[in-house]
Amino acid sequence: MDINILAIESSCDETSAAVIHNGKVINNIIATQSVHENFGGVVPELASRAHQQNIIPIIDEALLGANIKKTSLNAVAFTQGPGLLGALLVGSSFAKAFALALDIPLIGVNHMQAHILAHFIDDPKPAFPFICLTVSGGHTQIVLVKDYLDMEILGQTLDDAVGEAFDKTAKLLGLPYPGGPLIDQYAQTGNPEAFTFPETSVPGFNYSFSGIKTAILYFLRDKLQENPAFVEERIHDICASVQRKLIDMLMGKLKKAAKKYGIGHIAISGGVSANSELRKRIAEEGLRNNWFTYVPAFEYCTDNAGMIAMAAHFKYLARDFVSLDAFPMPRMKL
Ligand code: KG4
Ligand code: ZN
Repeated sequence: MDINILAIESSCDETSAAVIHNGKVINNIIATQSVHENFGGVVPELASRAHQQNIIPIIDEALLGANIKKTSLNAVAFTQGPGLLGALLVGSSFAKAFALALDIPLIGVNHMQAHILAHFIDDPKPAFPFICLTVSGGHTQIVLVKDYLDMEILGQTLDDAVGEAFDKTAKLLGLPYPGGPLIDQYAQTGNPEAFTFPETSVPGFNYSFSGIKTAILYFLRDKLQENPAFVEERIHDICASVQRKLIDMLMGKLKKAAKKYGIGHIAISGGVSANSELRKRIAEEGLRNNWFTYVPAFEYCTDNAGMIAMAAHFKYLARDFVSLDAFPMPRMKL
């Protein structure tokens, strides 16, 4: 029998719907909310309102483009958490209404698990067990992936996520939200060794990015006192140096984890896995350490319902459904 699932993602500032047919994502529609650009971060209330406006057209487009009728759906999936409560409520309420009206099962997906399972959308697919560095605006985790739905966090950030460090640095430089992609762009022609920043040392495979954020704040304050045009004149070098430091920090712990667990299949996922330096460094370290490396297509790095659909497919096979009174879980654990 065919398996058709509609998946909805609304955890943060992307409203997205996707359709998966027998394990193959056949349509992945994403509406990115531009309303947050001038606020330096996502404004929760504005995100909920934008989801409310976008959700019906996005779902219609996803089903139409996939050429799948509502009555051919076998299940409907939604991001259950982690994320912003008001944003999650829009997707979960919609999914519940669909499940109730069509009398089909409802699947609650963990957003972080879905970022990892995005690796099973396209080839090459990772072999188990593999280690995944999941790096986004809300999370930074090193995860041991034993099976599709069996994952263990080996280490994670104790404070800010690495995406947040990118975005907050961008804000200090006067760049709009989300600043990560802009830092990446400016860094292309900058000198990554122009400036150095200290890092807070933390035990195990954990990270801390709040110290470096403060170091960058003081660094810019001091430099701007000497030369008010410092940022304008050196933005490429500043971005390249900050990016180098953040990626060095990520790679350091990832290499240690791979070594300790003796695992040679290494993946990256989440919004920051779109970063060009991280992608380059993973490839280089892969060659040096004989790793098989897995880097998602750009479309599946930042938030999208394609990855929710992929996770939902595995959950459907495992008959892992939730009831109509399932709550959104803003702090859902992996
Ligand atoms: O996974 P995602 O779309 O949303 C969350 O689940 O948080 O990740 C968004 C994060 C933002 O912090 C954004 O600045 C960052 O991913 N990002 C990047 C790049 N593209 C997106 N950071 C660095 N370089 C990039 N090219
Ligand atoms: Zn995400």
